[in-house]
Amino acid sequence: MTEALRSAARRMGRAGLVRPRHEARLLAARVLGCAPDRLIAGNGRPFDAGQAERFERLVDRRLSGEPMAYILGEREFWSLRFTVEPGVLVPRPDSETLVEAALERVAERGGPLRLLDLGTGSGCLLLSLLNEWPDARGLGVDLSAAALAVAAANARSLGLRERARWRLGAWSSGLQGPFDLIVSNPPYIASSAIASLAPDVRSFEPAGALDGGPDGLDAYRAIAPDLGRILAPAGWAVLEVGAGQADDVAALLGAAGLEAIGTRRDLAGIPRAVVARSAA
Ligand SMILES: C[S@@+](CC[C@H](N)C(=O)[O-])C[C@H]1O[C@@H](n2cnc3c(N)ncnc32)[C@H](O)[C@@H]1O
Repeated sequence: MTEALRSAARRMGRAGLVRPRHEARLLAARVLGCAPDRLIAGNGRPFDAGQAERFERLVDRRLSGEPMAYILGEREFWSLRFTVEPGVLVPRPDSETLVEAALERVAERGGPLRLLDLGTGSGCLLLSLLNEWPDARGLGVDLSAAALAVAAANARSLGLRERARWRLGAWSSGLQGPFDLIVSNPPYIASSAIASLAPDVRSFEPAGALDGGPDGLDAYRAIAPDLGRILAPAGWAVLEVGAGQADDVAALLGAAGLEAIGTRRDLAGIPRAVVARSAA
């Protein structure tokens, strides 16, 4: 196995992958059905024929640019394990900024919180928040049935099924509310920038989760005007934004009658979450 690992890491490095040894070990651990740290502890035995073939298949998928999260079928977010598969955006560490912002701003209101996640994808935002607030209940909306199936599976595996509901639809259309907190990480890449995204993102992740229209702001223009209607009095909205979009999104929220309260930066120092509040 050690030689197969070395060879895979060499090929993955030559292909320009940034952490070839680490990724090769993760793939080998998947084939052997063990934790990667068990592998590091030293398993010098060769793969058997079946394992060698399965390992090479996984390495080939990675060499073709497929994201590790799709190959492994999972990604960690907010220290929870989320199933992901093609058709669903891979949760990003940047989006944990929304969870931090929500936890910082939203105090318990005397009753269980009612949460809404617009464009829920894998359900990572809604389910992370439900996991933090044991009395909260929430609804995740998405235009993609494939995404909702994954979100529902994640709710089951995280033991949150009883408190999460899912709805196929366009943003808040048809919803009544009221919600105490609305989170959303909508598509926000300008259409013209899609072609210059990293190939693994561009070729493998769903375009409907990325493309935000000519200036990247289409989804905010669709979402913002309805927030006041479905937010509870003094309810919170926390929206993820791309680099340089925070002021424009705060202005859209202001024009919709919400008070833009501030932003929260991600680990790179980029304003990543815009926080706003409805009238009391
Ligand atoms: C950037 S992804 C975010 C996924 C997940 N919330 C996350 O943070 O990883 C945007 C999501 O919005 C969904 N979406 C796009 N247009 C939509 C619409 N008009 N109504 C509802 N959901 C939409 C996409 O299918 C995708 O799952």
